[in-house]
Amino acid sequence: STEFDVSDTLLGWYDRHAREMPWRIGPVDRLAGVMPDPYRVWLSEVMLQQTTVAAVHDYFVRFTSRWPTVNSLAAAEDGQVMGEWAGLGYYARARNLLKCARVVAFEHDGRFPDNYDALLKLPGIGPYTAAAIAAIAFDRPETVLDGNVERVMARFYDIHAPLPGSKPTLKVKAAALTPARRPGDYAQAVMDLGATICTPKSPACGICPLCSSCSARAADTQAELPRKVTKKPK
Ligand code: ADE
Repeated sequence: STEFDVSDTLLGWYDRHAREMPWRIGPVDRLAGVMPDPYRVWLSEVMLQQTTVAAVHDYFVRFTSRWPTVNSLAAAEDGQVMGEWAGLGYYARARNLLKCARVVAFEHDGRFPDNYDALLKLPGIGPYTAAAIAAIAFDRPETVLDGNVERVMARFYDIHAPLPGSKPTLKVKAAALTPARRPGDYAQAVMDLGATICTPKSPACGICPLCSSCSARAADTQAELPRKVTKKPK
């Protein structure tokens, strides 16, 4: 199957099965080409950096009802933001969040930069988050590589070299599949596939849209992948 077939199959699956999340565009608007608010995409991606979707959900809703725009967040007092963040952990994220909101509000006129290189310069935005925002909010064909995407790629291409050394190879594979059309939906489609079907344990290959072209499935190695370098016991 070609790269086009794979990304197209995943986008079709996403149109039918995307998980609803408060930072995502709903199915009707998505098919109409409506783009999500970069502020909401940024906030969700920072919250999701070390925290699960389930844990982030309510925090995201409370944050965005209290501070619906980046300018309103930039004007908040540090203590208010730290208070709303309490419980999410990794408090450096909250401090960088506020720093970033102020840079965007006061140095970028309240508008998030619309490309990877400019996003990467902002406080608290690393390579993963810059790629995610560029793809999801601005439809840039950036490759988003998180743990879910690594697992899907290792299995689809039956890559047995262990993480973390295999990361560059997995990234090349993920980049080759990233479509020019709807790269943000595509990135979220791979994340959803990894979270709901191509799961770490007992993946649901029987209902996977990529089943017929998956190399691990053909070799029955999906349960072993991705391999990881075993840590030395202390
Ligand atoms: N994890 C990080 N970003 C995500 C997103 N946009 N959708 C689902 N899971 C995610």
